[in-house]
Parts: sequence; C-alpha cells; structure tokens
Amino acid sequence: MQKTRMIIVCLLISISTTTLAADKGNWQTLTLSEAQRSHILEEMRALLSGAQNILAALATDDMASVSKSARPLGLGMAHKAEDHLKSVLPKEFMQMGMSLHQDFDRIAADAESKKDPKLTLRQLSDAMTKCVACHDTYRISTIPASVQPAQVQQHNHHHH
Ligand code: HEC
Repeated sequence: MQKTRMIIVCLLISISTTTLAADKGNWQTLTLSEAQRSHILEEMRALLSGAQNILAALATDDMASVSKSARPLGLGMAHKAEDHLKSVLPKEFMQMGMSLHQDFDRIAADAESKKDPKLTLRQLSDAMTKCVACHDTYRISTIPASVQPAQVQQHNHHHH
C-alpha cells in the first residue's frame, strides 16, 4: 500500500520537474515596455471573453450572436492594435496572432451563412489550439520601474 503511494509520489515529482524544465527551455521572452505589455494583455482578455461569449451563444444555438461575438476578434482588431507593436514583436508571434484573427473572421462569416453550431465548435476548438501554442512558447518580461534608468523610463525605450 505505502510502497505504491511512494511510487506514485516519485512519478508525480519526476513528471512535474520534467515539465518545468521543458517549459523553461522552450520559452521565448518578449522584453516589452509596461505600456506594450498591458496593451497585449488587454487584447488577450478580450479574446478570452469573446471566446466565452461564442460558447454561451452556441449553447442556445444563437448563431447571430455567435457572429456578433466573433467579428470584433477578427483582423479588424489586429489592424487597430498591432501597428505599433509590429516592430517590437517577433515575426512568428505576429503571424500566429494574425492567423488567429483570421480564424475569428471565418467563424463569424460561417456562423452567418452556414448556421451550423457543430461546425463553429470545431472551428473554435481549432482556433484555440493557437492560444495554447503561443502560450506554450512566449512569456513577456518588463524591466521593473525601480531598476530602470530614468532616461529609459521617460523615453519608453525597449531592449531586445
Ligand atoms: C501570438 C501569441 C498569442 C496568442 C495566439 C494568444 N495569446 Fe494569450 N497571451 C500571450 C502572451 C505572450 C501572454 C502573456 C504571458 C505572460 O508573460 O504572462 C498572454 C496572456 C493571456 C492572458 C492573460 C491576460 C492577463 O490579463 O494576464 C489571457 C486570458 C490570454 N492570453 C488569453 C488568450 C486566448 C483566449 C487566446 C486565444 C483565443 C490567446 N490568448 C491567444 C500570447 C498569445
């Protein structure tokens, strides 16, 4: 009995340390200003609540509401937000983001024309693999204001 428990504990420990090590090795750090970081996080929260709205609408087969919730997450969102971030974010990051926005445009269009909740669910699930993939790859770090030279703070310079 106790031996089994010990083995399970050991297994769990080795699994969790392996995962941590792998995560650490794979993360790419984006060094951004505080303003850039909060801009990205704001967009992220909009993506999460938009996805939740889509699911809620799907639960009642309300395809008009699906389309209405998906549309603002499309490329229009990207054009509004990402112009000034383009120069600081890696190309791969931008591409993953753009392709996700395209997915939401497609979800909005198909919800309107095909009105097929199962199709929308599949499309949303596929799109959300991009949330997972990007979160598995990138972390944001900012230079804490306390150790930032006054000049850097004032002019909002960022380092790569
Ligand atoms: C192209 C990359 C990328 C994609 C795609 C992406 N995210 Fe993010 N997301 C990030 C990064 C980077 C962070 C910040 C991680 C960190 O350093 O803490 C983040 C953070 C978040 C947060 C935390 C916000 C906060 O206020 O702390 C939420 C919620 C989130 N993402 C939701 C989503 C959802 C939902 C999707 C898909 C519909 C998505 N993200 C797709 C890159 C991405």
